[in-house]
Amino acid sequence: MCGIVGYTGKKQATPILMDGLERLEYRGYDSSGIAVSGGGAIEIVKVKGRLSELGKLTGGTRPAGTTGIGHTRWATHGKPSNENAHPHYSRDKKFAVVHNGIIENYLELREFLAERGFTFRSETDTEIVSLLLEYYYDGDVLDAIVKMSRKVKGSYALGILYADEADVFYAMRKDSPLVIGLGEGENFIASDIPAILPYTRKFIFPEEGEIAIVTPDGVTVCNGNKERVEKTVVVSELDAKAAEKDGYPHFMLKEIYEQPGALRKTVYERIKSEGIRLDGIRFDGKSVRKIYIAACGSAYHAGAVGKYFIEKYARLEVETLLASEFRYCDPLVDENCLTVIISQSGETADSLAALREAKRRKSRVLAIVNVVDSSIAREADDILYTRAGPEIAVATTKGYTTQLAVLYLLGLKLGHDRGTIAEAEYNTLVRELTEVPALLEKFIDDVNEQTQQLAGKYYPATDAYFIGRGYDWSAALEGALKLKEISYIHAEAYAAGELKHGTISLIEKNSLVIGIAADPALTEKTLSNIKEVKTRGATVIGVTNRPDLLRAECNDLIVLPKTHDALTPIFTATALQLFAYYVAASRGGDIDKPRNLAKSVTVE
Ligand code: G6P
Repeated sequence: MCGIVGYTGKKQATPILMDGLERLEYRGYDSSGIAVSGGGAIEIVKVKGRLSELGKLTGGTRPAGTTGIGHTRWATHGKPSNENAHPHYSRDKKFAVVHNGIIENYLELREFLAERGFTFRSETDTEIVSLLLEYYYDGDVLDAIVKMSRKVKGSYALGILYADEADVFYAMRKDSPLVIGLGEGENFIASDIPAILPYTRKFIFPEEGEIAIVTPDGVTVCNGNKERVEKTVVVSELDAKAAEKDGYPHFMLKEIYEQPGALRKTVYERIKSEGIRLDGIRFDGKSVRKIYIAACGSAYHAGAVGKYFIEKYARLEVETLLASEFRYCDPLVDENCLTVIISQSGETADSLAALREAKRRKSRVLAIVNVVDSSIAREADDILYTRAGPEIAVATTKGYTTQLAVLYLLGLKLGHDRGTIAEAEYNTLVRELTEVPALLEKFIDDVNEQTQQLAGKYYPATDAYFIGRGYDWSAALEGALKLKEISYIHAEAYAAGELKHGTISLIEKNSLVIGIAADPALTEKTLSNIKEVKTRGATVIGVTNRPDLLRAECNDLIVLPKTHDALTPIFTATALQLFAYYVAASRGGDIDKPRNLAKSVTVE
């Protein structure tokens, strides 16, 4: 939620800030703005709407100056408007602030400031920060920042300009992502690495509560007591091209196509001649009594697959919970449990809170995360990275399928260690898992045109129901989410066996049903449910590896390759990603940045 960027150096700041914001726009896109300082004053340009609106105002060059901060917003406090867009001035316009996160006690602080004669230009919580900085400023900006940070509660990554200090800006983080990029005679901040990767590969990761003083010649990092802290410089191995569309019309399509490569990176290095080796975990699978999985969105859907898989092969009870529920439902987590937090971004507020809750209850925490050194990765006891590379489209694709791959590896490893999986089955699954990338590559090529045609036929639908059992139900959850996220068609996933307990009442002539039947043990059961909706007039797209069984009952069929039943969600999900993508394209939606959504949900 919200992207922030900052620059100080010898070049003009505005083009660099705009460029960084473009790469961060996936984090929020209802308004944007930049502030540039120079000659004892700060000039702000900001506007409601997409970044292109800001581009019209700045003309790519205005304001002039070599130090500045920028922001792209996903509204929390205060509607999207010119006034609520960041940066926010202090009353005297000496400070300008950009913020990602939420100031939780902002109403109380608003009152505190109002009592001291401050008035407000916006409805945002962020303005509180700039006003507090003015209130506490007594000749020392760092001191004002420390005092402000002791007063505010909540999460924040902040970029701060002070008008009277040329060639410097300040940054601070608590529970929100922030990286500092080190260049030659120039330095940067951003909400993530890819935003500034074209400028530098050297990064510093500030810890919670640390404050950075950024100048063209260096970066000083202090703790909350203004004591200097030494930071390690990390050189990123990410390819700058990874954050570009590379000829594809949308990041989402590019990322769908990147899945075979991402899965290779996720899986291959972890399969050795002696079997699966997971260097990121340092606990004994035999000592785990129960596993809790907590995650949000698609990561939760991956967790639903993980539950079935781990329970089956490691014979361990697994409970998959939405992270937003986990944190408040008083779960029976203790030191005998393993809590697995799944998150592409590693920053999702509810998932991070679930991690902390699990640790508070003494559970060991394993993070399955894509973004290296993200908050969830840093706070977990063990990490398994998904190695999907940067994912820019708001709707996750390769993030999700690589999460599945890691869960398969984990389940197999646990099963092997615990002696609960037969050697032959283990070997078969390992072999089939290594075959997935090549199979998926071919499958994407085969199914791309077909999903495009199906989308051309079904894009006017108003509702879609995704049904399946077992793994197919988990894949249905993900398929429905993809379709609704980017096409805005009302889409729901139902366990096929549950249909008769309510949802079937919604089925009428031409209702669109996507019937998933890839699990051989359950195909015939799901087929009966498909027949039930067909009898009531539904139009059915079957997704199956048994076309012989489904053909007669379905209007259209997506045929999946033959693979181990547990691995089918990778293929089903990919077909449904493509279907959703082309439906959204036919409806003319903004595929990479769907309305009201943001990729990295750093607020509760
Ligand atoms: C957002 C994204 C989803 C993602 C979810 C969880 O809603 O749009 O694609 O699944 O957040 O994100 P995480 O980064 O924790 O996997």
